[in-house]
Amino acid sequence: MTYRIAPSILSADFARLGEELKNVIAAGCDWIHFDVMDNHYVPNLTFGPMVCSALKAHAKTAAGLAVPIDVHLMVQPVDALAAAFADAGADLISFHPDASGHVHRSIQVIKAKGCQVGLVFNPAEPLEVLDWVIEDLDLILVMSVNPGFGGQSFIESSLRKIEAVRRRITASGKDIRLEVDGGIKVENIHRVAAAGADTFVAGSAIFGQPDYRAVVQAMRAALK
Ligand code: DX5
Ligand code: ZN
Repeated sequence: MTYRIAPSILSADFARLGEELKNVIAAGCDWIHFDVMDNHYVPNLTFGPMVCSALKAHAKTAAGLAVPIDVHLMVQPVDALAAAFADAGADLISFHPDASGHVHRSIQVIKAKGCQVGLVFNPAEPLEVLDWVIEDLDLILVMSVNPGFGGQSFIESSLRKIEAVRRRITASGKDIRLEVDGGIKVENIHRVAAAGADTFVAGSAIFGQPDYRAVVQAMRAALK
């Protein structure tokens, strides 16, 4: 299993975003998680495609290798902004099915732009839509907090949801990543991986510490 760690820049210092990206990439992260909030689907407001576009040039290792930008759209409606983020350099774009009037169409909009596509499930959101679209997905993101804010506590029932999603991915026979977002820490990452997750978003756990590398290494050690 290849595990991926995706720091959420929601908890970074917004006055120094380019430098924060550079530091967290130097710390050995795999993806950059970019939380887009619209003060409508969620009660908070963050950044738009122009910020993504400005950061794209910084999303690479010191050796020049690109680090994927994992855009998590917490917006309603979905399609126009998804397309704008694709144009702004997003590599993966995930959206909440309950924020789209036409989930299948939103998936196709993202794929047509050449991006990987994911669906995001809130803690109380059922998984049934996967019966109809799982073949089209590259990623399924399970929220382990209610979306809108960093620094919340991990919701335990999401472990059962991760297990249920893992069963669906296995049954599909497809290569789909299972990402988890919210309240992930060095202390619980092992349990979350044991439930079936392979990609871990962490905001406050990484950016809340002075030494990002130490946190990323401790997470990798906990995953061994
Ligand atoms: C919450 C966001 C998360 C958030 C996670 O709505 O989707 O990505 O940054 O923050 P932590 O890791 O602090 O729970
Ligand atoms: Zn997120």
